[in-house]
Amino acid sequence: MVMLVWGLLVLSVAAASPPRYARQAELDNYDSNNYDVDLDLSVDNQDVYDYYNEVDEPQIDTLNPDEDSDPSHSAYIEEEEEEVVQKPEQRWTVEDREDTEVPITPLLIQSGSGESGTLMGPNAQGGMSTCVLCICLVGSVYCDDLRLDRVPPLPKETTHFYARYNKIAKISKSDFTNLNKLKKIDLTSNAISKIDDDAFFGLPALDEVILRENNIRQLPALPPSMTLIDACHNQLSSTGIHREAFKDMPGLLYLYLTDNNIDHIPVPLPHSLRSLHLQNNNVQMMHDDTFCNPHDLNYIRNALEDVRLDGNPVNLSRTPQAFICLPRIPVGNLI
Ligand SMILES: *[C@@H]1O[C@H](CO)[C@@H](O)[C@H](O)[C@H]1NC(C)=O
Repeated sequence: MVMLVWGLLVLSVAAASPPRYARQAELDNYDSNNYDVDLDLSVDNQDVYDYYNEVDEPQIDTLNPDEDSDPSHSAYIEEEEEEVVQKPEQRWTVEDREDTEVPITPLLIQSGSGESGTLMGPNAQGGMSTCVLCICLVGSVYCDDLRLDRVPPLPKETTHFYARYNKIAKISKSDFTNLNKLKKIDLTSNAISKIDDDAFFGLPALDEVILRENNIRQLPALPPSMTLIDACHNQLSSTGIHREAFKDMPGLLYLYLTDNNIDHIPVPLPHSLRSLHLQNNNVQMMHDDTFCNPHDLNYIRNALEDVRLDGNPVNLSRTPQAFICLPRIPVGNLI
């Protein structure tokens, strides 16, 4: 019943709300990193553009970011019902965009539904209370800007998890267990300094992990299903990345490691890779086998059309043979 009332509220807010500028704010945010050309709308970068616009997902907006300085708004409130009814209206709205189909009947996730006798299990309970605190729409769980200090228990059906702009400091293996449908984790702008190395590895459907703007020194192991890894603006050094970390990711397209302290390129790179962003790191030297195969001069790495090495102490003019297999010379210091 509570969930139904809540669902109706979300729906009515969604219907009433004009298009919002949350997306624009996010675009501006990316734009302000003027060394980062991810928003170049040219045909070549259409995929990147699509990624940042996430055209196929409903978006939400923080309606009232100033909060009401009520400390009870932080995580893990086992809510009273009045709070349940008011919160979505006070704090959230669902963006209604022309190109986004907001589902007519938001399917609230009820972990344990369809399974007899598990409704009161610990996971079911956790998933339910998370959908009171956060917004759950179809498989997406939106927990942005809620001052969370840890990952809330997620419903088993979660496919996309967003917890941007919180205060999460640590990711444990137990945060993401039994989430076999989870495809995307976005933890942009938290305070993460520690991630258990096996926290993500066992997630069979995971393909996008966004860890921008944290304090990560050690990138955890990631499953072979990855297509996008974004760990920009962290404290990664080369020793903080597993040896051959990306080798066995045959579908990896985007590897964003801008603004870290990486001093060599994390080889071998999978052939699928389209974008490698390493701006503002400490790469000093290129090698003949960084991208190409010195033993096979016919080898061409067609996919890798977007390599960014600007802001590194490397003189690309010294190693022209390191780029012969690429469709384009990397962006970087050529003098
Ligand atoms: C960069 O390398 C080229 C080719 O070896 C060289 O002529 C040039 O002086 C180098 N530039 C700097 C700043 O070291």
